[in-house]
Amino acid sequence: MNWRKYVLSFLVLGSLVGWVILVSCAPQKTEPVKTVTIADGEIDPAVWGKAFPLEYDYWLKTKEPRPAHKSKYKPGYDTDLIIYDKLSEFPYMPLLFNGWGFGVEYNEPRGHFYMITDQLEVDPSRLKAGGVCLSCKTPFAPKLQKEMGLAYFSDPYLDVHAKIPKEFQQLGVSCIDCHDNKTQSLQLSRGTLQKALADMGKDYKQVSRQEARMLVCAQCHVSYIIPKDAEMHSTSVFFPWQGSKVGNISIENIVKVLKSDPSYLEWKQNVTGFKVGFIRHPEYEFFTTNSVHYQAGVACADCHMPYTKVGANKISDHNVMSPLKNELKACQQCHTESATWLTSQVVAIQERTVSLMNRAGYGTAVAAKLFETAHKAQAEGKTLDKNLYDRAKDLYLEALYRVIFIGAENSIGFHNPSEAGRICGDAVAMAAKSEALLRQALAGAGVEVPADINLEMAKYLNDRGNKKLKFRPEFEFKDPYNNQDLLTPVSSLGRPG
Ligand code: HEC
Ligand code: HEC
Ligand code: HEC
Ligand code: HEC
Repeated sequence: MNWRKYVLSFLVLGSLVGWVILVSCAPQKTEPVKTVTIADGEIDPAVWGKAFPLEYDYWLKTKEPRPAHKSKYKPGYDTDLIIYDKLSEFPYMPLLFNGWGFGVEYNEPRGHFYMITDQLEVDPSRLKAGGVCLSCKTPFAPKLQKEMGLAYFSDPYLDVHAKIPKEFQQLGVSCIDCHDNKTQSLQLSRGTLQKALADMGKDYKQVSRQEARMLVCAQCHVSYIIPKDAEMHSTSVFFPWQGSKVGNISIENIVKVLKSDPSYLEWKQNVTGFKVGFIRHPEYEFFTTNSVHYQAGVACADCHMPYTKVGANKISDHNVMSPLKNELKACQQCHTESATWLTSQVVAIQERTVSLMNRAGYGTAVAAKLFETAHKAQAEGKTLDKNLYDRAKDLYLEALYRVIFIGAENSIGFHNPSEAGRICGDAVAMAAKSEALLRQALAGAGVEVPADINLEMAKYLNDRGNKKLKFRPEFEFKDPYNNQDLLTPVSSLGRPG
């Protein structure tokens, strides 16, 4: 008898799923003694910390290194605060993102403490959008936006950053971003999310406690669009959720919004010359789209801020991080299995996702290189069948957005394994169909194309300005399933290069 199944089916019995889980996992609340009144608009976490020293202490710990070797794909850093380079881990990315900041430097996340520091250290090409980049980094963002109006979005990042009081210029997500200063209950500070929820017919003030335990994270762990004016200056920021529903913000609908207005296309892809949009860290969208855990009433905070005993108190662990780096304690609030078993489940999901993701990424890269060939042929006066070309382009963009989405989502499939499979599977099929249609168009125009396309990987990997690739020494650039070398320039995976 599988114990997990037994315990969980007990929990899931009846219609009280979310409620039962909540009750079984909720702590006996110890009312914190309030010795300090927190003034309206108080941003300094140290002041909040006088009233709530335990949460403050754990919040400060987001500065500490994360234990290494606990997570296969998010390795942590015992001694050095290493920043892991996503472009080295997934070498099709520098090819696809060549043309703007994400193709120069794109890193794995670190602790919350570092969010501004990492922005100040990242390649400046990543901050070209302007002050708008501070929106989900500093607790001063709502205030700056109110005071500066349109200039907040488009003024150079460093100019807007300089308007933050000196002592808070490195301060990341803070108490005021998630809490009401009087009641300490959860509160959304960001207008972007309030508006996006309204677009889906949801009043941000009417949310359950469990919803709030996701929505505070959804202020930042979501995708967004920065519309551009004719001069490519940023004009605002919003979440592409129009037409979606809470609990179903699908990739299909995000792509539909992206394609609905040319001002949403933020960059030009060098290899194809196409103007395209981008998708950022869609944790909330991906998790809430019908995942097993979401349907069971589990929230982000359950896994990333588990209840922790500190002396006689039980608090929410404000040292937000990967549950694998915290001995899977979060999971064991509900699951009875060992940390080893739970880790093996997470890693198995992630390996399957990485394998599919690479197939989709390399397949899309092949189609991109064929567009390059097609455009060269057109420039030399060849005529390609327009219908075939247009259909190939449409499928290519659909595949590309899926590849961007799954690569930007930070759990590597764990938050919603079957949805990860669906998205990557669609991308593989779309990229392959795009390749087939383009080959037909090229053949019709008398252009010869080899069976295997040279992806010229080295060219894109090295075309990164001053930034150097940071290969992880222990990282094997091989597909977890067919052992294929990911750095050899082959036309796609699934057959020997
Ligand atoms: C990223 C959002 C976020 C930030 C930033 C944050 N908290 Fe929390 N906090 C939460 C969540 C989520 C809970 C759980 C609330 C619930 O279950 O209703 C919580 C709970 C609490 C509680 C209730 C007791 C407990 O531990 O469950 C206190 C007190 C608290 N936080 C204080 C603080 C203080 C002080 C800071 C700043 C140093 C802070 N929080 C920063 C999200 C945040
Ligand atoms: C104000 C924006 C903001 C909010 C709110 C926020 N995050 Fe984050 N989070 C970030 C940024 C930015 C990073 C990456 C920081 C870096 O790499 O410098 C990050 C990183 C993380 C990481 C990686 C941490 C590590 O140790 O590597 C986790 C896990 C995470 N966030 C989960 C959450 C959860 C869960 C919530 C809600 C309780 C939340 N975040 C709320 C912006 C936010
Ligand atoms: C059922 C548990 C669970 C829930 C619920 C959950 N996560 Fe995660 N999350 C994970 C696991 C497991 C990973 C993979 C961590 C690893 O590989 O080290 C992860 C990874 C992440 C990461 C990357 C962490 C890193 O170290 O780079 C972020 C950010 C994140 N989750 C945010 C969220 C947000 C936001 C939500 C809610 C919308 C959420 N998670 C809901 C379990 C969960
Ligand atoms: C608040 C409770 C809760 C927490 C915390 C939680 N889970 Fe679950 N988990 C569930 C429930 C409920 C189910 C669905 C019951 C079922 O079908 O077995 C589930 C299902 C699963 C499944 C099977 C999913 C599938 O698609 O079949 C895995 C694997 C899993 N959880 C791993 C984890 C891991 C790893 C963590 C910590 C990172 C975690 N869970 C945290 C409640 C939780």
